Amino acid sequence: MSGLGALSDLGGESSVNTLRTISEMRATSRAARQGGKRLGLVPTMGALHEGHLSLVRAARAQCDVVAASIFVNPTQFGPSEDFEKYPRALERDCALLERESVDLVFAPSVEEMYPAGAVTWVAVEGLSERLCGRSRPGHFRGVTTVVAKLFHMVEPDAAFFGQKDAAQCTILRKMVRDLDMGVEIVVCPIVREADGLAMSSRNAYLSPAERASATVLYRALGRVQARWEKGERHSARLIDAAQRIFLEEPEVRLDYVEIVDNDTLEPVADVARGALVAVAAHVGPARLIDNLILPTAKG
Ligand code: PAJ
Repeated sequence: MSGLGALSDLGGESSVNTLRTISEMRATSRAARQGGKRLGLVPTMGALHEGHLSLVRAARAQCDVVAASIFVNPTQFGPSEDFEKYPRALERDCALLERESVDLVFAPSVEEMYPAGAVTWVAVEGLSERLCGRSRPGHFRGVTTVVAKLFHMVEPDAAFFGQKDAAQCTILRKMVRDLDMGVEIVVCPIVREADGLAMSSRNAYLSPAERASATVLYRALGRVQARWEKGERHSARLIDAAQRIFLEEPEVRLDYVEIVDNDTLEPVADVARGALVAVAAHVGPARLIDNLILPTAKG
């Protein structure tokens, strides 16, 4: 499984340059960009896996200096969500990032990131209420606020995000356009386990039985893709085909299957090339998401 065995062998203190304060981060990234060096930022909430590391590798390939941030951002979690129990593994994460030749790690505390009494938000209206935004009110406002803050602190030339969080990518692209942020948003493909399950820090919550059922998200997407390739273009019929796959796993609680335009996140009736098929479901204690853009492999 994805080299996780090898990753868990990492031990000892990492010597990667880890910064805890905004002023240190700002000064260090400013110095690192001297002489026109291209700085890439990979924002994460830690508990790193191969999905995160694929972003780091893309940044390493495209930039002179690579910074990664590790911050479990409280403002993007709802009151009854998993902020408290979200996995935290800073030492191991820093060792992994060091192995990937990351230059800087920014790991601020909550108090450092959010001054007491902060009331200012960055919100991408409309888009933030779609897909996961509907079942997680305020989630995307928390994401856009923290990413905007990171962009101000680090001032990267490019920032790397995963297609795994498709709506997050669309919303961040819109934020950067609307607020004239001079950051290139680079979107990297979804990294999956051998059986198709999209890698996620939340997969750690799953029991062996839940882990086996969790492939239903990928299987449902596969069914939509197969039907689409056979010529089905009606959104409602494609969604129905996906929902039927979920019936095979009664203990999995489907949140949504939607087929939307990848830029507006609005549902489409006729499913054309480039449409985004997105699913979210509760598997045991974990809320998991996955998606594909039609058509996939064959282009
Ligand atoms: P987190 O869930 O830690 O994910 C960090 C980045 O890794 C995101 O861009 C996410 O899309 C990407 N990623 C996660 N799993 C992936 C996979 N299987 N394949 C490819 N990329 C994957 O997303 C967040 O954190 C936060 O919302 C954040 C942007 C850091 C703001 O707090």
